[in-house]
Amino acid sequence: MTDASTAGSRPKVFVSRVIPDEGLRPILEACDAEVWQNDLPPPRDQLLLKSAGRDGVLTLLTDRIDDEFLDRAGPQLKVVSNFAVGFDNVDVPACTARGVAVGNTPGVLTDTTADLAWSLLMAAARRVAEGDRYVRAGRWQTWGPMLLMGPDVHGATLGIVGFGRIGQAVARRAGGFGMTILYHDVARLPEAVERELGARFVPLDELLASSDFVSLHVNLTDETRGLIDADALGGMKSTAVLVNTSRGPVIDSMALFAALRDGVIGAAGLDVTDPEPLPVDHPLLTLENCLVVPHIASASPVTRGKMASMAAANLLAGVRGERLPTPVNPEVYERQQ
Ligand code: GLV
Repeated sequence: MTDASTAGSRPKVFVSRVIPDEGLRPILEACDAEVWQNDLPPPRDQLLLKSAGRDGVLTLLTDRIDDEFLDRAGPQLKVVSNFAVGFDNVDVPACTARGVAVGNTPGVLTDTTADLAWSLLMAAARRVAEGDRYVRAGRWQTWGPMLLMGPDVHGATLGIVGFGRIGQAVARRAGGFGMTILYHDVARLPEAVERELGARFVPLDELLASSDFVSLHVNLTDETRGLIDADALGGMKSTAVLVNTSRGPVIDSMALFAALRDGVIGAAGLDVTDPEPLPVDHPLLTLENCLVVPHIASASPVTRGKMASMAAANLLAGVRGERLPTPVNPEVYERQQ
């Protein structure tokens, strides 16, 4: 990876996984880069070792960036470019305190993620994965009047928790299904936006009680960790379908397991889980009404290419001492003035 003839003058970076070429190419052209080649994330000791002495690191949501990491990386570190829109794996205040800029990849994955939220919503409602398992198990004997029934999506009420870019993109898609759209967030959106999306702000408990489908689009913070616990699930319709493409710990996994098992809610479609990856012997995977995919919401070639190129742009700007195109902690620049 390293071009020894020019390495001395070039910024030193560590890239913690192979990312699409749209991002990798410009990094390799401009930097003395080491790229972690394994499909699995670098173990903690390797992450710390490989990041030591670098000017910049390109990290994934599987890499924890905290004080220990920053200590080991060293005071020359200028930038942590996270290849994700979410950045709960990064201790942003710790980075800011040391003058390290943090970047993420907002915007480019909004629609791809909303598409997957809808895939999960429809598949969980209409029992698509379960039906596929049924066919493959040789259980399909005839057309059955009661076979694998699931709730209608069209005309139902969709509750969106977290009404940022992705939540709004999910709402936009609901128009074609003639749905009633409720949303909840820390603050109400301007009326013009509500009108355009046909969405009504309600308190969280009202949203949970009134929605046939609940889709989660919040960041993972101290406030949202465990937001959907046994109480919240108990306040939902017994037929409700819960969709999570945000972060696993927003839902209490064992409370969800109990709710799905006991018919407190109808079904769940999860792109993210707690823990992640979900062990194959996890209780949730014993349930037919729990659909799980492996954190793939942004996984289209075009979107992952755009994320790579954005993450590279943040990394390169950071190592050059320039403002990141999409900084998570713009306050780091005020601090430097
Ligand atoms: C993926 O989960 C992301 O935050 O981009």
